[in-house]
Order: sequence, then C-alpha cells, then structure tokens
Amino acid sequence: MAIERGQLLSVLGMASPVIQAPMAGFAFPDMVIAVCEAGGLGIVAAAPHSMEEIERDNGAIRSRTNRPFGINFFSHAAPVRDAVAERAWRQRLQPYFEELQLDAEDIALPTSPVEGFGEAQCSAVERIRPRVVSFHFGLPDADLLMRVKKAGALVMASATTVTEAVWLEAHGCDVVIAQGMEAGGHRGHFLAGSESRQRGTFTLVPQIVDAIRLPVVAAGGIGDIRGVRAALALGAEAVQVGTAFLCCTEASMRPGYLRALQQSTGEDTVMTSAFSGRPARVVANRFTRELGMHENEVANFPLAMNLIAPLVRDAAQSGSSDLAPVWAGQGIRPYGPITASQLVGRLTPVEWA
Ligand SMILES: Cc1cc2nc3c(=O)[nH]c(=O)nc-3n(C[C@H](O)[C@H](O)[C@H](O)COP(=O)(O)O)c2cc1C
Repeated sequence: MAIERGQLLSVLGMASPVIQAPMAGFAFPDMVIAVCEAGGLGIVAAAPHSMEEIERDNGAIRSRTNRPFGINFFSHAAPVRDAVAERAWRQRLQPYFEELQLDAEDIALPTSPVEGFGEAQCSAVERIRPRVVSFHFGLPDADLLMRVKKAGALVMASATTVTEAVWLEAHGCDVVIAQGMEAGGHRGHFLAGSESRQRGTFTLVPQIVDAIRLPVVAAGGIGDIRGVRAALALGAEAVQVGTAFLCCTEASMRPGYLRALQQSTGEDTVMTSAFSGRPARVVANRFTRELGMHENEVANFPLAMNLIAPLVRDAAQSGSSDLAPVWAGQGIRPYGPITASQLVGRLTPVEWA
C-alpha cells in the first residue's frame, strides 16, 4: 500500500531517521539488527547472495529482533557478453596477475557474480515477507514488482536524477532514495543519459522533493548530525547512510580495508568503472590510478567482478588494498571504533529522543 509523504517513519515505526544502507559484502545481520534495535532501519544486502543465504540471514535477523527491516537487490539487466572487451580487459589485468603470481587463466566469465532480481529472488521475498524491499539500478519487471508489493513490502529504489525519480514514481515505487554523487559504492543510475547528469546530494534532494509526491530519502555524503539535519531541512524524511557504517564494529571487512578507510579523506575517493563495469565511488589506489583511464575497455557489469576476484582474494590474504576495491564515499572521515547502535544515536537529532 502506497504511503503518504511525511508518513515513512511512522509507517515503519522508526524512532530515528537513519537507514543503514545495504552494503553487499559488508553489512550482515549483526549490523541490521543493531540498527533496527536502535530505532533506525537496517537493510540487508542480498544482491550477491544465494537463496539459502537470504533465508539464513532472515532467520538470524528474525530470531533477534521484531523490528521491521529491509532486503536489498540489484535490478540490472542480465549482462551482454562481449568477447572483444572481455579479452582486452583480461589482457590489461594480466600484468597484475603475473606480479602477484596468481593463476588467472581459468577465470570463467559466464556465471554472473551478482544476479539481477528474478523469479528466485521474488519467491524468497514472498516466503520471507520483509517490510521493506529496496532496489539499486532501477526496478524489476512489473509483474515481479507487483508480487513484491503483494507480499506486503514497501518498495524503495535509488534515483540519481530527477528524471529517474519521476520514472520510479510512475512505475510503482513507494519511496525514492535520492543518491547524490558523493555516495560510496555503485551509482544507482538506470536511465539512458543519466550518467552524465549526476549531481550532489544537496542539489538532488530538494529537486526530487519538488518533482514527485513520494517520500524521499537522502543518500550520499551524510556522516554526522549536521548532514542529517541538512537533509531533513531539504525535505528528506530519512537519510540512508553507508560509508559511516563501514567503520562500525559490526561491519565485516577484509584486513586492510578498514586501514585504507581510516587513512583516507574524502579527497581520496574517485569514481571508476574499472572494478565492476559500472561507475562506483572508491578510495583511490594503484588500480584506479593505473586502470581508471582504460575504463571503456572493462567487461560488462557485473562480469568484470569475476576478473578482479583473484585480486580481491589476494588482498584478503595480504592485507594490501592497492589493487582491490575499497568502496567508500566522499563523506569518509576517521571515525573511532563505534557500534552501529552508537552511530544511529549520534545521527539522531536530540529532540527526537
Ligand atoms: C561499501 C558499500 C557497498 C554498497 N553496496 C550497496 C548495495 O549492495 N546495494 C545498494 O543499494 N547500495 C549499495 N551501496 C550504496 C548505498 O546504498 C548508498 O547509496 C551510499 O552508501 C550512500 O552514500 P555514503 O556511502 O556516502 O553514505 C553501497 C555503498 C557502499 C559504501
């Protein structure tokens, strides 16, 4: 059932305007539970997960909280194979494989490391019946979306332009997440031409608020109470925060990732397609410096991720973050060790307590 603007937090029973961004590979049930119990909304990132993992996460969350939570999926189209681009990209990466003495000959591309939202994911949603389902890269087909809504889920999706927000409203989305270009991780853009129109959160939020009637959530570069207050003043009903949660004790990270985050400032982040085939914001490292300029040769999203998998595995063992992605946004700052619950507290206006 669609919700009125101004009703998002009350419909979800949230005591804080903080939504913990789904972060594939980093935010697991422990974080989701902590955020929900602190009065925010935790969202589990299911895009790279098997159906068994999705069911297992749901069981873990439900056994420890009765609060509403969300599940996030990607809604990208199945990748188009491009043998020429794949071969060229493989050759481009070969010197790194040789340097690290990795056997990358047998990397197979046909299996996509991240499935788009399809029948299996939809059936899982129907069984699990989460209160919120959020999508990145647009919405799934209309019949799948209808089934998600029939299962009782509120549908949220990222928009990176006003045009995308209007499109989401017209296609059945309940809540629009305005994702500014400060945001860490993948840009959620999905309409042709949007890529060149990316803008910052505090330009995008009021423009989307003025253009549609749905509740709007602000995402990108928000990491302290000033950012939260600014987003709410611009008309957002909640904020979706990713990067700041990466430094929480509940975040799951390979060794070296946290160090790279703690050593970097927002000035060190760059946008690149080189890791996955789609633009994403990461901490600059040797890989982005050396391969950022060859982005047009990257294999299609998400197949390119298969090709960097050996580099990521090596980084996990060595603790080095020179050649593997450190997804993070411009709002990155040296957060001390903090729990997700404490972070929700810090991001909640005092007058809400
Ligand atoms: C490490 C990382 C992983 C992310 N993974 C996902 C994801 O799986 N699904 C998704 O919808 N958004 C993902 N995002 C983007 C967030 O939803 C959100 O737009 C972003 O974190 C907000 O900006 P911030 O990082 O500056 O707070 C990810 C962001 C980061 C930093």
